[in-house]
Amino acid sequence: MAFAPGAAGVGDPYFPLDGNGGYDVLSYDLAVRYNPANDVLVGAATIRANATQDLSRFNLDLDGMSVRSITVGGVPAQWSRDGGELIITPAAGIPQDVGFATVVRYDGVPDTLGSPLLGISGFMHTDDGAVVAGEPDVAATWFPVNDHPSDKASYTFRITVPVGLEAVANGIPRGRTSSGGWTTWTWQAVEPMAPYLSTATIGDFDLRAYVAGGIRYVDAIDVDLIGTRTGNVASEAFARQPEIVDFLSGVFGGYPFSAAGGIVDDYGAFSFALENQTRPIYSRGFFSDARFAESVVAHELAHQWYGDSVAVQAWQHIWLNEGFATYAQWLWSEEEGFETAAETFAAHYSTGPNSPFWKVIIGDPGPDDLFDSAVYNRGAMTLHALRETIGDPDFFALLPAWAQQQETGNGTTAEFVALAEQISGQQLDAFFDDWLFTPAKPPAP
Ligand code: TRP
Ligand code: ZN
Repeated sequence: MAFAPGAAGVGDPYFPLDGNGGYDVLSYDLAVRYNPANDVLVGAATIRANATQDLSRFNLDLDGMSVRSITVGGVPAQWSRDGGELIITPAAGIPQDVGFATVVRYDGVPDTLGSPLLGISGFMHTDDGAVVAGEPDVAATWFPVNDHPSDKASYTFRITVPVGLEAVANGIPRGRTSSGGWTTWTWQAVEPMAPYLSTATIGDFDLRAYVAGGIRYVDAIDVDLIGTRTGNVASEAFARQPEIVDFLSGVFGGYPFSAAGGIVDDYGAFSFALENQTRPIYSRGFFSDARFAESVVAHELAHQWYGDSVAVQAWQHIWLNEGFATYAQWLWSEEEGFETAAETFAAHYSTGPNSPFWKVIIGDPGPDDLFDSAVYNRGAMTLHALRETIGDPDFFALLPAWAQQQETGNGTTAEFVALAEQISGQQLDAFFDDWLFTPAKPPAP
């Protein structure tokens, strides 16, 4: 048996060092204490994984933070750091197919991220806590992780915060305990989750827990917004979630998770929403107007099927997330008696042929254009054009079949094309080539 190091990345063409080779994570147990007074997070992460090769050593992804100790299988391990790679050498090699638990103790002030397109994201320090949301990067700024959507795992969060604050993560609430001025909030994300979809959002929140359609909802609205127009619009938009989930379930098939809900913080420095699994996070800016708010809620809820349950296998497949979630907004608009999907398609299709809108390669946009608005709108247009091409019966059989075939897993564009061809019985290579892989305005469907 030749024990060898696991690779430093999973081989994503856009982000070669994201994730790692040589093992598959089953679960994360993240015990973190966060003190908003000094922004310091103290963590103990227990990571259970199976070796997929004979491992002499392996990497986790971790950005910043100070590592204090590491054990593998209860035995102290050696480690070193190289940029975002935490390189762990256990006392003895780990044979292929053997399960092992790694415990990393660490602390520090998590870095906040920024991008020219979306502004600040990641672990954002607020006046009373933190908002934790980012894509594709965020997880490695606050816990050691196999940071790529292709390695999903279940999560338990034990988040300790000063008494009086709330800590909200993904999945089902499992209660809280207080002692010595601190409260520990436990949350469990039972269904497998991609790392970037995890959150530990902390602050003074009004929590609303309810069950609808068999799904456990928890909404969190910053208390500073309660009684304001933003807070009222957010409350009303969140109250419509069960109705939106029902509508989307009718089109996409059953809701894929046991929990749902939304989070809005009054922190005004970020301006996006993210489809955190079972608990999307919204900038307060989305709750200026009810119709706009509901459209964004429909987008993030649609991501629960497309993006979260069916996650990308690699980042170039991003239109499978954003195109689908945007198309859901078009369908919801039509359902509400506003603009129809056909009208929305036509409005975008009238964009002149020389516009940069047609230059982005939707099926492989490159890391800098991952979240270009063309990925969203031309992704949705691709679905509408497909609907026109294969007809409503096949199209509305394809959407739930795709959600179900890949449920709680990962998907690629090639797999989606294959399923579309199988269900429609049509050869669709030329169609998808025009819509996804050609930097020019496609012919009208
Ligand atoms: N996926 C998010 C949405 O459309 C948007 C998004 C892209 C994002 N990159 C981000 C959000 C980075 C936060 C940080 O719903
Ligand atoms: Zn989206």
